[in-house]
Amino acid sequence: MHFDIFTLFPAMFAGPLDDSIVMRARAAGIVSLALHNIRDYAEGRHAITDDYPYGGGGGMVMKPEPIFRAVESVLGLPSRSAGDESDPDQPRQPIPIILLTPQGRRFDQSVALELADHARIALICGRYEGVDERIRRRLCTDEISIGDFVLSGGELAAMILVDAVTRLLPGALGAEQGAADDSHATGLLEYPHYTRPPDFRGWRVPEMLLSGHHANVQRWRRQQALLRTALRRPDMLETAWLTDDDLSFLARLEQEPQLTERLQMGL
Ligand SMILES: C[S@@+](CC[C@H](N)C(=O)[O-])C[C@H]1O[C@@H](n2cnc3c(N)ncnc32)[C@H](O)[C@@H]1O
Repeated sequence: MHFDIFTLFPAMFAGPLDDSIVMRARAAGIVSLALHNIRDYAEGRHAITDDYPYGGGGGMVMKPEPIFRAVESVLGLPSRSAGDESDPDQPRQPIPIILLTPQGRRFDQSVALELADHARIALICGRYEGVDERIRRRLCTDEISIGDFVLSGGELAAMILVDAVTRLLPGALGAEQGAADDSHATGLLEYPHYTRPPDFRGWRVPEMLLSGHHANVQRWRRQQALLRTALRRPDMLETAWLTDDDLSFLARLEQEPQLTERLQMGL
C-alpha cells in the first residue's frame, strides 16, 4: 500500500513514521510513503501557498493552485477546470484523495479497515484556516477528521491515519502479534494484559492467566473485554457482535454487582 502525503511541513513526519511498526512495514515493502512538499508546486519567486480570505477575517487560506498542481502531477491526473465534465462533484479516479479536516467524517477502526483495502491513498494536510473550498469540492474524494478538536495542521492527523491503517495490513505486526483482539477491532475494548513477574509488590497476576488452560483463559479474556466495555464504553455494546453467552454474561453483570467487583479484581 502506498501513501502520497501532501504537506507544507514534510520534516514533521521524520520520527513517528521512521520507527517501530510503520518503519518495519516500510522495510518489508508492506507500506510505502512519499512526502510531497506543496511549496515545490507553488509558482513565483516566493512560492506562495496561502493568501488572505475573501470576505475578510483573520488567518490565511491555502491557495488552490499549488495543491491542485501537486496532486495532479503526482497522481498523473489530467488538470481540469469548470465545464470539463458534466458533474464536477463526481470523483474522477479510483485513488482516494483525502483531505484531513475537523469537518470530515470521523476516523475510527472501521474507516481504517476500509482504507486498508486500497492500494494507494493521497492525503492532503491543511494548515492555517484550512484550504480553499475548491480543493475540497473539486479535488478531494473524501474528508476525514481524527476527532472533535482542532489541530494546527493535518500532519499529525495524517500520521495517525497512516499508523492505524498500516497495522491492519497483512504482515505488518509480525507473526507473533495480531490486531484481531485490539480494542475496537471486535467492537469491544480489549481485555487487560499482564506480564512477568507474577507477583509485583504483592499485586498478583490473576490466577486464571497462570493456569495454562487455554479455553478458560479465552473465556476470562472475553468476559474481561465485555466488562471493560460495559463499564467504560456502554455505547459500544449497542453495535458489537455478541453471542448468547455474551448476552447472558452481561445480564448477570447487571443483576450481580459483586460479580463486577470480583472480575475487576481479576478473579
Ligand atoms: C487550524 S485547522 C483549520 C480549522 C478550520 N478553520 C475549521 O474550523 O474547520 C488547520 C488544519 O488542521 C487540520 N486539522 C485540524 N483539526 C483536525 C482534525 N480534527 N482532524 C483532521 N485534520 C485536522 C486540517 O487539515 C486543517 O485544515
